[in-house]
Amino acid sequence: MKKEILKMLKDSEGYISGQELCTCLGVSRTAIWKVMNQLKEEGYVIDSVSNKGYKLLEIPDILSSEEIESQMDTKVFGRKVVYIDEVDSTNIYAKRLAEEKDSHGTLVAAGRQTQGKGRRGREWDSPEGTGIWMSLILKPAIKPSQASMITLVAGLSVCKTTKKLYGIKSLIKWPNDIVIGGKKICGILTEISTEFDYIHHLVVGIGINVSTMEFPEELKEKATSIKKECNISIHRSEFIAAIMKEFEFNYNIFMETCDLSGLEKEYNEYLVNKNREVVIIETRQQYEGTALGINKDGELLVRTRDGREKNVLSGEVSVRGIYGYI
Ligand code: BTN
Repeated sequence: MKKEILKMLKDSEGYISGQELCTCLGVSRTAIWKVMNQLKEEGYVIDSVSNKGYKLLEIPDILSSEEIESQMDTKVFGRKVVYIDEVDSTNIYAKRLAEEKDSHGTLVAAGRQTQGKGRRGREWDSPEGTGIWMSLILKPAIKPSQASMITLVAGLSVCKTTKKLYGIKSLIKWPNDIVIGGKKICGILTEISTEFDYIHHLVVGIGINVSTMEFPEELKEKATSIKKECNISIHRSEFIAAIMKEFEFNYNIFMETCDLSGLEKEYNEYLVNKNREVVIIETRQQYEGTALGINKDGELLVRTRDGREKNVLSGEVSVRGIYGYI
């Protein structure tokens, strides 16, 4: 009921009467009053005036299932949110939940991760209250070989949301780091459970440094946050809901063809590597070339020094600029 009350308060322009809330939700006035007090305790500023009702004046930047769900404007993605204050990793948690029926679209979000996971077995620093640490469960009917493209769809969706909501142009470092001012603000780790040619589920883990101001010594050169770069305050639940909406929209475009033909052009517009010199680091060798953009299969096209064109597959390589991270 808290979620519904929050949603009604948010949707209402002026005061909403206790009677209207009672009628819509089929509960007593006392029940409404109790929830209002709970919300106030959590930091929501609610004006209550007799004969007029309730009006939401301020929404705190807190995360809870109710808060995130009340912002959600999607059909499937994030309609159900599991929020945990502290968890080892939202990806680990989501993988367990994914075994359950009907979990396609369920979003797991946490206030803090104690064992946040990055790509290639790295750790992902996930401090309390300053970031978005979330994992979305998906069960698409596609081949395992097509799954890595969903990570690219997620990255594009984060970039587009940052632009639409805050007017900030973040860029994509292929395949799926999001950067502002040459430093990373977001990383995506997709984990997949498959059997032969069949996907049981995917867990798309998205970590965004929203307002972190201090980074551990070893990350300082490479990592930053949206606040640090752009000095804006972000309401995380609103940001999460907008990312889910954008992701759902782009995912549906992807699912029409099961490739990136409908998104390739836009992805390339956000691609920071485009026309830049890059080093492709494979397990046994590395080579340099110019990144040209991605193709409809999500591969990075690179013109090598000897003039040949190579299609680089994500997952198997690491890409760097020749002088540093980009
Ligand atoms: C990377 O190395 O760039 C990927 C980082 C992915 C971090 C996110 S935070 C939410 C989810 N849970 C995890 O343990 N990792 C991902």
